Amino acid sequence: MILNRMTKQKILAGAQNIELALKEINSRNYMLVCDSSFPFLPIKDMFRTDVFFNQFSSNPLYEDVCKGVELFNANRCDTIVAVGGGSTIDVAKCIKLYCKMDPDRNYLQQEYTDSGIPLIAVPTTAGTGSESTRYAVIYFEGKKQSVTHDSIIPNYAILEPKLLKSLPLYQKKCTMLDALCQGIESMWSVNSTEESMIFSKIAIDLIMQHWHGYIEENSEEDAEFIMQAANYAGRAINITQTTAPHAMSYKLTSMYALPHGHAVALCLPEVWMYMLEHPEKCIDPRGKEHLEFIFEWLGKIMGCDSPYKGLMMFRAMIFSLDMPKPESKNRDAELDILTKSVNPERLKNNPVALDDFVIHCIYNKIVL
Ligand SMILES: NC(=O)c1ccc[n+]([C@@H]2O[C@H](COP(=O)([O-])OP(=O)(O)OC[C@H]3O[C@@H](n4cnc5c(N)ncnc54)[C@H](O)[C@@H]3O)[C@@H](O)[C@H]2O)c1
Repeated sequence: MILNRMTKQKILAGAQNIELALKEINSRNYMLVCDSSFPFLPIKDMFRTDVFFNQFSSNPLYEDVCKGVELFNANRCDTIVAVGGGSTIDVAKCIKLYCKMDPDRNYLQQEYTDSGIPLIAVPTTAGTGSESTRYAVIYFEGKKQSVTHDSIIPNYAILEPKLLKSLPLYQKKCTMLDALCQGIESMWSVNSTEESMIFSKIAIDLIMQHWHGYIEENSEEDAEFIMQAANYAGRAINITQTTAPHAMSYKLTSMYALPHGHAVALCLPEVWMYMLEHPEKCIDPRGKEHLEFIFEWLGKIMGCDSPYKGLMMFRAMIFSLDMPKPESKNRDAELDILTKSVNPERLKNNPVALDDFVIHCIYNKIVL
């Protein structure tokens, strides 16, 4: 067991710990939040509750969460167990946050406080690290909302690699790439700390060592390492937040229906290349030398002897995983919409300044 001192979260390996966590919490009536993959999971018979919630989509909507809050309160539940990917865990986090708030007002506009409802998260994808972050992503009126509060870090994160066995190959690739991008972005974020850099280094290292076995052989041993990597990447971004590639990915997801990890993985190498070419535009207060050191170090963690080769290694990985670029129908209009969609707040975490012109040029390379 790992007890994260900062977040007070318990991270436990093995599905048998779900029952132990419920006992520790002394739960009498929990709500299970899960997605449509639940019936195919080897742990499906472990749960004894009548309160299930699965009425939400991938990249969940605000309205979905409201239905979950109603169900939770109508059944007077005392705990939430989330078994699923990032979408499921994010829905569960929002239900926890909103369940004691005024249902007659928009939850997104109310002040957040800790509802005190215990939350157990059991990820079934190895990607978002949502089981260990204080963020939840939902969509309101077509716009991405980043819900952030310390109290939504699940009290327990239970890592069971057997749950990855049924994940379709394309979802495995997308979610693993999300974890790798989180690790890389956290490493270069202006908010990085010694602790976050250790977490992101471990995440990148583990993915580079085990992705072949995980993707090509469906190996359970490699799956265990990728699940750990995703959790470390989540803990890293919990400290640093994500940077430009994530900020640029959200509109690609909603516009071209690209899964989150796929969209981020297309943005990251183009942003990386621009930053390597423009260290003079560094906005990290630690200076250009710090950033160049990070790029050098990133290259080494990727197993390469130069920052450019590290980037080439990433590109080769995307190529071999066969992650195609989206095709535009009305190119100029779409590039304008994409450029305007990027949240300037999120760009402040990026170590190199990116203005609208640069963002437009980067999207121009991503969209066919
Ligand atoms: N909260 C955070 O810190 C954070 C971080 C990154 C991303 N996100 C958000 O997470 C969401 C993406 O999550 P995701 O990439 O894990 O995908 P997901 O949860 O949307 O699931 C993708 C698909 O995989 C299926 N699936 C999940 N586990 C399965 C399994 N074991 N076997 C078979 N099918 C399975 C689901 O049913 C779904 O169809 C996005 O909304 C993204 O914005 C959140």
